Amino acid sequence: MTDIQKIILDTDPGIDDAMAVFQAIGDPKIDLVGITTIFGNVTVDIATRNAFRLCNMVGWEIPVARGAEQPLEWQGFSPSSHVHGDQGFGDIPPIPVSGTVIKMPADVYLVDICAKNPGEITICAVGPLTNLALALRRDPVIAKNVKRVVVMAGAFRAEGNITKFAEANTYNDPHAAAAVFAADWEVIMVGLDVTDQILCTEKDFAEIARIAPNKGGFIQDMSHFYLEFYRSVEKLDGCSLHDPAAVIACAYPEWFTMVDAKIGVVLQGEEWGNTIESKTASGTPTRVCTGVLSDIVKRHFINTFRIFD
Ligand code: BDR
Ligand code: CA
Repeated sequence: MTDIQKIILDTDPGIDDAMAVFQAIGDPKIDLVGITTIFGNVTVDIATRNAFRLCNMVGWEIPVARGAEQPLEWQGFSPSSHVHGDQGFGDIPPIPVSGTVIKMPADVYLVDICAKNPGEITICAVGPLTNLALALRRDPVIAKNVKRVVVMAGAFRAEGNITKFAEANTYNDPHAAAAVFAADWEVIMVGLDVTDQILCTEKDFAEIARIAPNKGGFIQDMSHFYLEFYRSVEKLDGCSLHDPAAVIACAYPEWFTMVDAKIGVVLQGEEWGNTIESKTASGTPTRVCTGVLSDIVKRHFINTFRIFD
């Protein structure tokens, strides 16, 4: 794939989401067309404010659409402040941001932009999949109009990260995830099987900060909180490169090994949110990432900061 990919990033910034936004902005093979926000690591209001902060930092005025406040059905959701901090960017305090969300909510915007650009838009979703499920409900034709959907979601053969079974984005809205996997569109699942294989260390963030003192330094500042979570809870000397990996998979799928599988999502009991192979699930088989050229992906992520100051 050599052409430039037009992407809408659906995101809950969030520390690795901030890395994903900079990846999408800086990658020479990606044209970031818009951002849709979602609850998840933080509330949707904080996620929206944080998305604007990142856009302000690079001087970009791209459409930002505010998305869902809560899961489709589940009432028990709470933000992951222990992983991303109360305000989403670790210990970095919030500042006033400029920018106004577009009038359309995220699901309407997704339907609209795909209808206006049939076959051209990749939706890259790196938070709970609620906006995508709402878009499918609103107008199932989006499945025909979108180019493909790439999600940072799920754990196929790997263990979960929020429970033994479930990855955080599928755990936080399993009903939405089930709807997304059951639809007739091409989905690439960039789950923990691959993102946990790409570990970014303190040294890597120091290099990013050296390359780009402003944007890279900002990422390094928030990485301290994230690395501390990985050190104390996961007993790891580095953090997984979750959301940037999904963005990179949009433009460089050849760096990932994929198997086709129909994916179902467990909606009850201790396996709540688990993504499992299901022969009877409906929809187009999902292209599940099971392997990754992790050194190449990490090096590409770091090098992307060369375009920033
Ligand atoms: C996913 O959950 C969130 O905490 C991260 O931003 C990422 O999207 C990893 O499981
Ligand atoms: Ca995320």
